[in-house]
Amino acid sequence: MSLHNRVCDLFGIEVPIVLAGMGGASTPRLAAAVSNAGGLGILGAAACGPAELRSWIEETRSLTDRPFGVDTLLPASVRRGKSTKAPPGGPSPMEQIPTHQEFARKFLEAEGLEIPPPRVADPGADEEATFTKGFFEAQMEVVIEEKVPVYAAGLGNPAPWLDRMRANGTKVLAVVGAVRHARQVAETGVDVIVAQGHDAGGHNSPIGTMALVPQVVDAVGDIPVLAAGGITDGRGIAASFMLGAEGAWIGSAFLATEEATLFDFQKQAIVDATDEGTTVSRSITGKPARQIKNRWAQAYANADIEPLPMPFQSFIASPVMQAATTAKRADIWPGFAGQGIGMIRSIVPAGDLLRRLVAETEAVLAKHAK
Ligand SMILES: Cc1cc2nc3c(=O)[nH]c(=O)nc-3n(C[C@H](O)[C@H](O)[C@H](O)COP(=O)(O)O)c2cc1C
Repeated sequence: MSLHNRVCDLFGIEVPIVLAGMGGASTPRLAAAVSNAGGLGILGAAACGPAELRSWIEETRSLTDRPFGVDTLLPASVRRGKSTKAPPGGPSPMEQIPTHQEFARKFLEAEGLEIPPPRVADPGADEEATFTKGFFEAQMEVVIEEKVPVYAAGLGNPAPWLDRMRANGTKVLAVVGAVRHARQVAETGVDVIVAQGHDAGGHNSPIGTMALVPQVVDAVGDIPVLAAGGITDGRGIAASFMLGAEGAWIGSAFLATEEATLFDFQKQAIVDATDEGTTVSRSITGKPARQIKNRWAQAYANADIEPLPMPFQSFIASPVMQAATTAKRADIWPGFAGQGIGMIRSIVPAGDLLRRLVAETEAVLAKHAK
């Protein structure tokens, strides 16, 4: 039973299994390995400045001659500058930064961690601060100049850039977590929609994958939908087809591969985790994100403090993540991951994982076709 379908024709790939853009983890080696094995590798370039993004694209092109993609974030709130405004009667996020920095400092001290030195700006670097409006726009200029085969908007609507990407032949995906958002990007005219449910690692929808996927499929007419969130083996991919999706966008399963850019202690945390091993917290980026349970998210929950909105919370969390990774403290920053990690038992080469996923899916579909 062949998995080849119109999504494969659209992207020029063999099987409709896509490596999700995962910031910092889906780097050129991993994306190229997935593309070389017949799927579609997507670079998790959310935090790449323009120069780094260009070098990632060049590196990926040196590792594969097959199609690949770039994923960045286009959060509407940041692009409109909404999150810098103070709520009525309250301090603005900017005004709250010192309080949260003090919270982070006390947290690190109590954990016995070195407080990392503040980042010194490179006077030669003409780059915008991460996760600001200018930063996102500069990334998009590189995506357009480099004429990448596929672009994925991990958050937000790529409408303002669509005509220029189209003119380059770039195929465009948008990741959504609700039918309302799916309708918006469908009207924009994206090529493929990713319906990413609550089970997923990283930025997260309140709606479970099983309920979200068919509702998005029903809402977007003839636009192909990829299912995402908790899909970790061939059973999950086969189920995606049953829900009306035409492929799967898979993140966490590819974290447990040799090529994923994660520290070994973080890969081990994935292998060790059970079905109950994750939580959703705004303590890293300011938006709800599923991550392996950790003491930083727990500290915010215990203190009953609301994290700052994106992009401000990243400024607070970055030194904590940096200190935790230097000290190899998986209890403090193990990383984003989805609920399917309870199924992951070992670290394997990414090409082997893709081939296993294809074989399992074909076997499940064949069994139920009888
Ligand atoms: C470590 C990690 C980092 C992620 N970073 C991003 C990101 O930068 N941009 C994005 O669109 N989605 C990001 N996501 C979400 C994935 O693109 C994808 O939707 C999700 O992993 C699917 O769920 P799964 O992990 O259960 O397979 C991330 C997910 C993980 C696990």
